Amino acid sequence: MGKIYNSITELVGHTPLVEFKRLEEALGLKGRIAGKLEYFNPAGSHKDRIALEIIEQAEARGEISPDKTTLVEFTSGNTGIALASFAAAKGYPFRIGLQPGVSVERLKLLEAYNADIIPVEPDDLAEVYEKGIEAFEPIIKKFLEDTPNGYATYQLSNPDNIKAHYDHTGPEIWDDTDGKIDIFIGGVGTGGSTHGVGKFLKEKKSDVKVIITQPNPDDVANPIVDGVPDGGFHGIHPVHDDNGLNAMTPDNFGPEVVDEYQDISYAETLKAIHLLGKYEGIFVGASSGASLAIAIKEALKEENAGKLIVPLLPDNGERYLSEDLQRVRPEVEDKVDFK
Ligand SMILES: Cc1ncc(COP(=O)(O)O)c(C=O)c1O
Repeated sequence: MGKIYNSITELVGHTPLVEFKRLEEALGLKGRIAGKLEYFNPAGSHKDRIALEIIEQAEARGEISPDKTTLVEFTSGNTGIALASFAAAKGYPFRIGLQPGVSVERLKLLEAYNADIIPVEPDDLAEVYEKGIEAFEPIIKKFLEDTPNGYATYQLSNPDNIKAHYDHTGPEIWDDTDGKIDIFIGGVGTGGSTHGVGKFLKEKKSDVKVIITQPNPDDVANPIVDGVPDGGFHGIHPVHDDNGLNAMTPDNFGPEVVDEYQDISYAETLKAIHLLGKYEGIFVGASSGASLAIAIKEALKEENAGKLIVPLLPDNGERYLSEDLQRVRPEVEDKVDFK
């Protein structure tokens, strides 16, 4: 029987889980690592899931429709690209506020999907850096005032973000591992993916360990590679330190499903990305590299021998070619010894 899809939106989810067997062998890993390759989503990241869920749940509640609504969001990254793609596929106009310094790939993809781009001045973001993540809200409210029939998707606090991962990403990992997953690893931007997946997995098997990947704050403040903004981690930031959760913790984050927070350096992140390219022919973005680096460290531990470790790998390295993400930097990577 033939199979012709009606829309790109029908292709979201059911991304593959791939065990990195050659990497395991090359590094002598004791645990097994199977990466969830979210770049197989049609607009290229795990954010496709939340963009579609947020739009379709609002449609189901009768709050929006293509003939009367303009979708609005403020984001520097993958959520904007996913919303732009699906807004186009469903016939919604889409206005996106963009942070300064957004990579050229992102800007061009947003243009390709016909998004209406509103640059946000650095001064307007000063409050966010001062007061924390909640200061994004007034920026979006301002866009709404300027947008007749605007509907803000509010990825930082919209519960449909968590729901997308609880209903889909978590069950996919559970089914594809036949319930044998032992450790799940992910980073926090909005918190939706680790919250939704972690909640689902823990309800199924309470001793699944959930580890949050945290970019090393020093590397974020002082990038170790030239020309890389925010330390190069893209989309994830530290939310927890010795004093507990910080002001950059979004509403959608779920600390109750977290067992451990682990810091990762950018050097370790780069090394993990390049090992994956070298041994598996897979090129992922930096947030994936950060989670993979932690997966490698866990898989080296004797206590994790034979355990199944699943890092969520949000997007593809092609999205960061303008930063030369593919280039091996021996001056920093040679110092990394995962043992
Ligand atoms: C590349 C990338 N990785 C990880 C994340 C974090 O995912 P989440 O928003 O589900 O916490 C994001 C999003 O902010 C992202 O764009």
